[in-house]
Amino acid sequence: MTGTAIAELRAWEALDSRGRPTVGAQVLLDGGASGRATVPSGASTGRHEARELRDGGTRHGGYGVRNAVANVTGELAAAVRGLDAANQAGVDATLRAADGTDDLGRLGANAVLAVSVATAVAAAAGQGVATYAAVSEPGARPLLPLPMVNIISGGAHAGRSLDVQDFLAVPLAAGSFAEAIECCSRVRAGTAEVLADRGYAVALVADEGGLGPVLPDNRSALDVLVAGIERAGLQPGTEVGIAIDVAATQFATGESEYTLAAEGGRVLDAAGLVGELASWCESYPIVSIEDALAEDDWAGWRRATEVLAGRQLLGDDLFVTDPRRLERGVDDGVANAVLVKPNQIGTLTDARDVVRRAQAAGYTTVLSARSGETEDDWLADLAVGWRTGQIKVGSTTRSERTAKWNRLLQLESQLGGGADYAGAAALHAGREAVR
Ligand code: PGA
Ligand code: ZN
Repeated sequence: MTGTAIAELRAWEALDSRGRPTVGAQVLLDGGASGRATVPSGASTGRHEARELRDGGTRHGGYGVRNAVANVTGELAAAVRGLDAANQAGVDATLRAADGTDDLGRLGANAVLAVSVATAVAAAAGQGVATYAAVSEPGARPLLPLPMVNIISGGAHAGRSLDVQDFLAVPLAAGSFAEAIECCSRVRAGTAEVLADRGYAVALVADEGGLGPVLPDNRSALDVLVAGIERAGLQPGTEVGIAIDVAATQFATGESEYTLAAEGGRVLDAAGLVGELASWCESYPIVSIEDALAEDDWAGWRRATEVLAGRQLLGDDLFVTDPRRLERGVDDGVANAVLVKPNQIGTLTDARDVVRRAQAAGYTTVLSARSGETEDDWLADLAVGWRTGQIKVGSTTRSERTAKWNRLLQLESQLGGGADYAGAAALHAGREAVR
């Protein structure tokens, strides 16, 4: 009896914020403590992500997860029963071995991640500490992340009204996490006012809570966002920067060919798309560009890294939180930042490994939620404990988003001088030896 040995696993089919099934799991320890977790699910998923197990058939349109749930209480429970939950790496290695496939598709990455996260939460409870503390390096100071907040949505999250998926606000001048969230909340309100004035529907809200207006083209979304920042009484570029998630994989129509459907079907090659992005950077205060090119367009990505240098160039579908793909990126000098989504790789240990490797290589890290989320808030604790420096969880509206912001607000308030706030320096940390 260690008190933190895994005694039993429970699991159930829950719902995510899109109303689709997802896996919930609970890990019970022999000392009586327990932890539970529900896992998210993406819509603009990369081809190289770990694979969720879905039931198919007619229940929930095929999205059911009863088989994944059965795998938690069956094979995965049998594998981890008796292991020490405080040894996350040991539990995660056992989960991976039990599945036996590279993409965790046999038992389901959704099943595996639910157990992995519930194990961390249970271990923290068993040790009588908060989850952020249990996942941090011994002696490391908690770090509140710089948020990037979704203001206008397009792409797969908003009926493809725009080609670019996210237009986000990055608070550059805030001195605390709470100030940063207030700043972004003002930008959202200001942007909604500008849209209403210009006759656009503001009741149309996308999957991550962003405004989903049907604008004529991608540049007009940037125009509206700048006007929204000004309407909020803030200075674009000095007080608020713009981040975009191009999510280019979603509109790639061939090898290194991109079709901007929302702009009359304009077709660009990689150089053309990079040139377009560079011209946006001349006109707007863009500080971060995610998935500028498609997931396997390494040559295009290399070009983007040269041409768009000086900004945070963030790989999501490109790296899929996979240490091997990150290694290739570092070796090839591709991108300078990694989006980290635990469910892309399937275990907390692997996701954390990517954060460490990225930071060691001078790449910045942005911990990210998915478009299909739940009200669970473990992601906030990971950001603080792992010291990712940045976080992206969607809008400042909708409870599955605010659950994460609210946990971070609670931690900042409780920790006071015992924690740091990353601030805008997180956009360059490591690259300019800030850390
Ligand atoms: P997803 O989108 O969760 O639908 O993949 C989020 C993102 O692309 O960053
Ligand atoms: Zn993305």
